[in-house]
Amino acid sequence: IMGKNQTLISEFLLLGLPIQPQHQNLFYALFLAMYLTTVLGNLLIITLICLDSHLHTPMYLFLSNLSFSDLCFSSVTMPKLLQNMQSQVPSIPYAGCLIQIYFFLFFGDLGNFILVAMAYDRYVAICFPLHYTTIMSPKLCLSLVVLSWVLTTFHALLHTLLMAKVSFCVDNVIPHFFCDMSAMLKLACSDTHVNELVIFIVVGLFLVFPFLLILVSYAKIVSSIFKVPSARGIRKAFSTCGSHLSVVSLFYGPVIILYLCPSASNSTVKDTVMSLMYTVVTPMLNPFIYSLRNRDMKGALGRVFCQKKIPFCV
Ligand SMILES: *[C@@H]1O[C@H](CO)[C@@H](O)[C@H](O)[C@H]1NC(C)=O
Repeated sequence: IMGKNQTLISEFLLLGLPIQPQHQNLFYALFLAMYLTTVLGNLLIITLICLDSHLHTPMYLFLSNLSFSDLCFSSVTMPKLLQNMQSQVPSIPYAGCLIQIYFFLFFGDLGNFILVAMAYDRYVAICFPLHYTTIMSPKLCLSLVVLSWVLTTFHALLHTLLMAKVSFCVDNVIPHFFCDMSAMLKLACSDTHVNELVIFIVVGLFLVFPFLLILVSYAKIVSSIFKVPSARGIRKAFSTCGSHLSVVSLFYGPVIILYLCPSASNSTVKDTVMSLMYTVVTPMLNPFIYSLRNRDMKGALGRVFCQKKIPFCV
């Protein structure tokens, strides 16, 4: 339009992680191990919950949904990162980038909404224990899950379509290990004000609103415990909410630091490390947080894998 040579580019280069060449193999092994742990850990949780009928309660069905979304979320970025660490020219086609953006937002957001459903479930369990089974009916659980899928589909689609309208000309080097929207917008050669505005408002809404809902549920839980303080009530609340609360902080901590405190230093290294936190570490830790101290999950492990009453498998 402006008489410029607007050759549209067909692929991007992903600069990857700021790792020195001599450490490349060490980090490759580390990330491969983390990814395998994520996949196996989450698959184990999904399998256990599916096979053991004792775990067919809203809390565990949501947990299994969370594991599914964690598994997919890390599979959006990790295999590509591992592949790029081994290749000379770490490139990704234009369409691949858009697909990555779509699924990154989709599964990131899905986990976010499942966490809200889990907080609501704990709120009902602790504040209305007598009505728990009638309120958290299978129908309501399914509706919450379906609603999460619908909302995240629209959210991811909105950003992906807006991204598809941005044109890129010369600069195709993304200083990141996946197609991060804000890193890509900095390379655009068309106007990106609309994109930035939509990202700011919508991502803010989709992040802050669920987080507030979780905070409100916990505020109500805490206030209901302190209304009738009893050692047993407090212990019960901590044992059921503790793991959920750690997952919530693991998920929101890095994301909030990244999006709500746009770095004063504008350092891409800090951004990359923070992104590693929630794309690699959080999905990997979730299964362990839920299973390590959890008697139900351990019982299920025993029931599912030791049905034949092998002597050393008590
Ligand atoms: C997700 O939750 C719904 C509703 O509780 C349940 O029916 C479904 O089996 C769960 N899906 C997975 C993959 O765990």
